[in-house]
Amino acid sequence: RAARCRVVLARPRAPVPGSKWQELRELSERAPERFWDSVAKERLLWNKPFEQVADCDMRQGKIRWFLGGQLNVSANCLDVHVARAPERVALLWERDEPGSEVKVTYRELLETTCRLANTLKRHGVRKGDRVAIYMPVSPIAVAAMLACARIGAVHTVVFAGFSAEALAGRIEDAQCKAVITCNQGVRGGRTINLKTTVDTAVKSCPSVRNVFVAHRTECKVPMGPLDIFLEEEMAKESTSCPPEPMESEDMLFMLYTSGSTGKPKGIVHTQAGYLLYAALTHQYVFDYHPGDVFGCVADIGWVTGHSYVVYGPLCNGATTVLFESTPVYPNPGRYWETVQRLGINQFYGAPTAIRLLLKYDENWVKKYDRSSLKTLGSVGEPINREAWEWFYHVVGDGKCPLVDTWWQTETGGVCIAPQPAEDGAEILPAMAMRPFFGIQPTLMDEKGKEIRGNDVSGALCISQTWPGMARTIYGDHQRFVDAYFKPYPGHYFTGDGAYRSKEGYYQITGRMDDVINISGHRLGTAEIEDALDEHPDVPETAVVGIPHDVKGEVPFAFVVLKEVGSSSQSQVIEELKSLVAAKIAKYAVPDHFLVVKRLPKTRSGKIMRRILRKVAMGQSSDLGDISTLDDPSVVTEVIQACDHYRSLESKKN
Ligand code: PRX
Repeated sequence: RAARCRVVLARPRAPVPGSKWQELRELSERAPERFWDSVAKERLLWNKPFEQVADCDMRQGKIRWFLGGQLNVSANCLDVHVARAPERVALLWERDEPGSEVKVTYRELLETTCRLANTLKRHGVRKGDRVAIYMPVSPIAVAAMLACARIGAVHTVVFAGFSAEALAGRIEDAQCKAVITCNQGVRGGRTINLKTTVDTAVKSCPSVRNVFVAHRTECKVPMGPLDIFLEEEMAKESTSCPPEPMESEDMLFMLYTSGSTGKPKGIVHTQAGYLLYAALTHQYVFDYHPGDVFGCVADIGWVTGHSYVVYGPLCNGATTVLFESTPVYPNPGRYWETVQRLGINQFYGAPTAIRLLLKYDENWVKKYDRSSLKTLGSVGEPINREAWEWFYHVVGDGKCPLVDTWWQTETGGVCIAPQPAEDGAEILPAMAMRPFFGIQPTLMDEKGKEIRGNDVSGALCISQTWPGMARTIYGDHQRFVDAYFKPYPGHYFTGDGAYRSKEGYYQITGRMDDVINISGHRLGTAEIEDALDEHPDVPETAVVGIPHDVKGEVPFAFVVLKEVGSSSQSQVIEELKSLVAAKIAKYAVPDHFLVVKRLPKTRSGKIMRRILRKVAMGQSSDLGDISTLDDPSVVTEVIQACDHYRSLESKKN
């Protein structure tokens, strides 16, 4: 429900009629096509102007923007700024080792990007080819993304915490021709052998012709027949590479994300619409002004890194921070020491990190000068009230607007967020609040009818297309239509629920499907189940998400075992943990395993996860309707097993 307390901004300003923000808001509501037409012309550099603003039909999942136009994304992110201010700092790479930051100017980033683009071309990467990037946050990783954009190749960045098998699955699905990686990553003082993981992954990926290996550390790694030393090759290449003119609707990148069923899906974003939306939201949601240092601490392996570390800030000519470390390395003051040293103006992070940090002494924040901060932002999962208050009052000293930004891999950029760029805007704690320009949120009831009025909750849809939205799922357009446009025909369904307050502000209430959010990482419970089910002694499993005070949610696995003696149960559980880590990633390993004899099912054989979730959360007295169960005695069994598990757990602690 909407929070009561109103936070008044540090310097409340009277609404200024006719201000730029007001003008844009007014036009975006009155004439959305004209709005997008004018911002696209004003903000992007086109090789060829577009002829038609949009051609969309949400019923068929047909989304096309700026048709007939041609442009190059890397030219918009680099060449445009190099022409005006070549020595402006583009990247501030906050390396894992504190105090060793590296500055990269726009001129340098363009040169590196061109050398990398020429290297890819020399090794046969062509327009339309897919390239996987498995790298830590670093200037070379950003250059790799931009180099793909420059030559018209399609990048798919895979978070460098994913396992070899997860990486291979993505490379296979995308049929990547090349992989760009590093010998090692460095995080929290530890090294991670990325190249070894890539070696394992590419063994099962015949599409890969080359693996380009950059060096983050001195460590020498064995090089095989596909492998190429990236920096050595780049040194041989020219620092100029003409940008390939791309159609607005050519693919720019794909990014794999989890759905409620099936394998991760390759969400496709295209050139012009995505770039425009990332840049516009970057400016207005965070109230970015030229000269600001923008600090988004997300990894480039997620969409937040794509839109607000790389494309949005660079398109706007900003100085963008690349944060390689963790919030607690070498101590819990790391973020704020970085804010002080780099003079960060906008700080954008995840609630899970805030919840972790607020457990430590406030002095870890207070001892650093945070006077550069102007806007704080939160993303990826609901931010609870306590975390919001701490972030706002302790980190921001009650002076900076804190924007809770709601969006998704599929939306390309922020869709609902308070907007401090608006004169006199008010911000309520822990609420995403207001749609961005051109976004039309709608709430739907169970029968698929729109819920009008305020003080209501429903399924969150967006009812008008916008340029930043995903275009398809790679290789499976029907899945795209089924997942997003079928549930409420003519509307984009987000998978989230939302509440619209009395004032008409939106608050996200969480996923309505079997997708969970672990430390801001989105994961389908079905993916974890698939991994567990591969164990020969496990005929059946069900995974649900339960709340966790730091991670937001954690997976809880109910496991049915074949007849094995109780002594080997713990061994099977250890094997199950290893299976999930190997098939997905370490963060996906369930925190809880409960061995049960049977799972509660409906008469048609569907596992009742809703009931399991309640039991796992200790709410077995409030199970709701269980009349559709095939055999209600199963529930009693599961409750007893869970009570026993909990009592053992509490003894352990
Ligand atoms: O459930 C919502 C949650 O994260 C999901 C999208 O995850 P992903 O595609 O990985 O993108 C995360 C970064 C944009 C959403 O469906 N989510 C994201 N932001 C918020 C949120 N839930 C509540 N409040 C938010 N601000």
